[in-house]
Amino acid sequence: MRVIITKDYEDMSKWAANYVAQRIIDFKPTADRKFVLGCPTGSSPLGLYKQLIRIHKSGKLSFEHVVTFNMDEYVNLPEAHPESYHSFMWTNFFNHIDIKKENVHILNGNAPDLRAECENYERMIEEAGGIELFMGGIGPDGHIAFNEPGSSLSSKTRIKTLTTNTIQANCRFFNNDMNLVPKQALTVGVGTVMAAREVLIVCNGPQKSLALHHTIDEGVNHMWTASAMQLHPHGNIVCDESACVDLKLSTYQYFKDKQQLEGIVDEYLNKFE
Ligand code: GLP
Repeated sequence: MRVIITKDYEDMSKWAANYVAQRIIDFKPTADRKFVLGCPTGSSPLGLYKQLIRIHKSGKLSFEHVVTFNMDEYVNLPEAHPESYHSFMWTNFFNHIDIKKENVHILNGNAPDLRAECENYERMIEEAGGIELFMGGIGPDGHIAFNEPGSSLSSKTRIKTLTTNTIQANCRFFNNDMNLVPKQALTVGVGTVMAAREVLIVCNGPQKSLALHHTIDEGVNHMWTASAMQLHPHGNIVCDESACVDLKLSTYQYFKDKQQLEGIVDEYLNKFE
């Protein structure tokens, strides 16, 4: 696993966006060979999306031949609700780039048959050739997508009941009223994320430091589902300094030394200026 430690949220977002943009450009996507990108929601990737939009607007990056699959969506929340992940993605990303509507995939939490919806989603990912790069965030309890503590680490797309912790964490988007937060969601599984050819997780702020500690310092554990990343052959975690406060000093120092030697932080921060 590669861990990139940046000074703050701004640099984390910039580094991650520049990395993703370079991956798409190097892939040289065409109509017959599209780049398949996995997309998260939440406050963590907002800066990453802003930076990708900036690079697109500068004329250096096109999403014309990019296909996206989102990680998750609430169950029974109308698609047009401002806090649905459909609304989030169009407002914060898709409306500002040249992606084709038919290339966007987001789970339908209002589908009449939710199980069939999930099975079909996995089928569509497969038909698209699998996910080339899955971007993601981490919940404060170490969850990835909506794979709450205790989720199977080989799970595929399915319905999940949200934990009280997650409902509490997400009620800031619903007038701070826990009763307004949907109690279930459709989510890709840990196994779905792990099947991507590459994964890039962004993680910022001291409220994520314990999750980062369990994801990197400790062993693979279904109670901290992001720790499954340790088994991925091409996993990246991009974090800011403040998310590192609970990391073991030896872990922190190892990754800092490594990135210094490789010069990889500056290399990507200075792209697309
Ligand atoms: C939700 C999403 C996750 C996201 C997490 C953290 O639970 N399903 O995909 O990573 O929130 O969100 P934030 O980035 O706002 O802290």
